[in-house]
Amino acid sequence: MPEQKQKLSYYLRLLYPFIKKDKGLLFFGLFAMLVTSALRLVDPLILALIIDQSIPNQNMTEMLRYGFMFIGVVLVSGLLSYLQIVLLSRLGIKIITKFKGDVFSHLLKLPVGWFNKQPVGELIARVESDSERVKVLFSDLSITIVGNLLFFVGVFIVLLIRDATTTLLIMPIIVISIVVYSYLFKYISKFFKQIREKYAIISAKITDYVQGMQMIQALNQEKRVIEDLRVASKDKQHVEIRTSFIEYGVQSVFMFVFNVLFVVLVIMITAPKIIAGVATLGTLIVFIQYIYRMVWPLMHLSENVMQMQRSFVSLKRILELTTLQTEDETFTGTVEPSFDREIRFENVSFAYEAEDWVLQDVSFSIPKGKKIALVGPSGSGKSTTISLICGFYHVQKGSITVDGVPIRTMNFRAWRKKIGLILQDIFLFPGPILENVRVYNDSVDPRIVQEAISVVQLDEFIKSLPEGLDTELAERGQNVSQGEKQLISFARALAFDSEIIIMDEATASIDPQTEARIQRTMNRAFGGKTIIIVAHRLTSVLDADEILYFSGGRITARGTHQELMKSSEDYRKLVELQMLGGSDE
Ligand SMILES: Nc1ncnc2c1ncn2[C@@H]1O[C@H](COP(=O)(O)OP(=O)(O)OP(=O)(O)O)[C@@H](O)[C@H]1O
Ligand SMILES: [Mg+2]
Repeated sequence: MPEQKQKLSYYLRLLYPFIKKDKGLLFFGLFAMLVTSALRLVDPLILALIIDQSIPNQNMTEMLRYGFMFIGVVLVSGLLSYLQIVLLSRLGIKIITKFKGDVFSHLLKLPVGWFNKQPVGELIARVESDSERVKVLFSDLSITIVGNLLFFVGVFIVLLIRDATTTLLIMPIIVISIVVYSYLFKYISKFFKQIREKYAIISAKITDYVQGMQMIQALNQEKRVIEDLRVASKDKQHVEIRTSFIEYGVQSVFMFVFNVLFVVLVIMITAPKIIAGVATLGTLIVFIQYIYRMVWPLMHLSENVMQMQRSFVSLKRILELTTLQTEDETFTGTVEPSFDREIRFENVSFAYEAEDWVLQDVSFSIPKGKKIALVGPSGSGKSTTISLICGFYHVQKGSITVDGVPIRTMNFRAWRKKIGLILQDIFLFPGPILENVRVYNDSVDPRIVQEAISVVQLDEFIKSLPEGLDTELAERGQNVSQGEKQLISFARALAFDSEIIIMDEATASIDPQTEARIQRTMNRAFGGKTIIIVAHRLTSVLDADEILYFSGGRITARGTHQELMKSSEDYRKLVELQMLGGSDE
């Protein structure tokens, strides 16, 4: 993975595909920019011609000609500057749309392990804000910075030609003022950073609180939450007020320096020359006009440069996301899987991170057609074992094989096709129930979906919905209950007729009726299939062919329910606890 600093050419190469299709836009945008900058130099020069030639010569026709030229230049320059903004903004929007699309589709292909290290909310917020910055880079920012730089160079050249001595006197002073201003700006931008950080804190708080609204109200915490947000906002407000105080103070001083002092200075230098006849009034007008036109761009130069640096950092970050290794690049096995005998773990040790072993020396086998249950305390490695069977991670030690073929050498997509996975945290797609069952696979007939729904006894529920199978699920399936979600994911596994059913039971309690229904469904629908179940409710393991008792990443006991009742103290305790109804674990 390219973690270390990369050359500019590396990023340009990454960027190229995003611009490739819109080279025309870029070219015309830049061309319009060049012409606009040049035209900004021209109209004061026409004014100078009128003042220096037409008026003294009392040449009305010439004056009219220059007058029309002046109007023409202003009009064309306005049109072109509109054109450059339109073209480059379009380019920016197109690039960023493609960026976001590509980044998201790339994220979807990354190995599950990558997401462990990324807080999802932060990742999404970052992609969003990075995209915005990159968009500005390709539109406003490039127009401002490149356009103004071109203009400055033009100004310098024209002034040098018209009056070299005055220019050479004035320019260093301008440069020094800009340097001073940029130092002050750096100082102010520390406050900007503080404001941004405080803003981030507030939005994070608001997100958390809105998500937990129900609990906040249930716990009567509204007042405290309001107070908490008030304090945070107040904090930000203080910094903001102080910042604007300093910012506008500095700006006003510099506006005065440029708009008044420089103009006075120029007049003081050129007036004697005009009287002596070595300079013209037109030149003075050109100087003053140029100074006025440079004030804003110059004042914003440091800000723009800083924005540009930030945009580049964002651009790099986004480009780097698109280069991360995908699952296809990580799991390169090609063997077509076949499952006729058994899945076997042999001395498997696994760590998500470095040497932090989550599973140690785990060995067991799942014969085809059997039901294996994984039980044990929280954090003992049950869900991890499931992830390994699904091939989401490679193990560090030992091997996992299917009919003797290591999972690592298999085509992972083909392998996962055999598995019907029902996870602890059930994920439903935003969309109709029908598509949630057949997962947007048109080859699965709606009749089969209907049948699966019947087997899991959800028909009543579906009938009660306004649009039956076509009812849309709200965000994350908020409009269905936990038990219904589980049954929907059962129907999914059924509709695909998966060979292996893997189920990670949710710890959330489900009412006894639903539980019994799930139990019956399991037995009827998945009878004869290979079932791997992580069980919290021991009723689901009583009939398992083998129960593996996990503790601290090891299997500390194994056998049928009867065998374990005799041999394992821990298991017996677990059973007693549940018989007493003390906990739903
Ligand atoms: N994605 C991950 N990254 C890093 N560590 C993880 C990750 N998932 C789990 N772990 C750690 O691995 C250990 C085993 O977790 P696992 O989810 O397998 O437990 P579990 O037996 O399924 O627990 P529960 O019954 O609560 O679901 C825990 O200590 C957990 O903190
Ligand atoms: Mg788990």
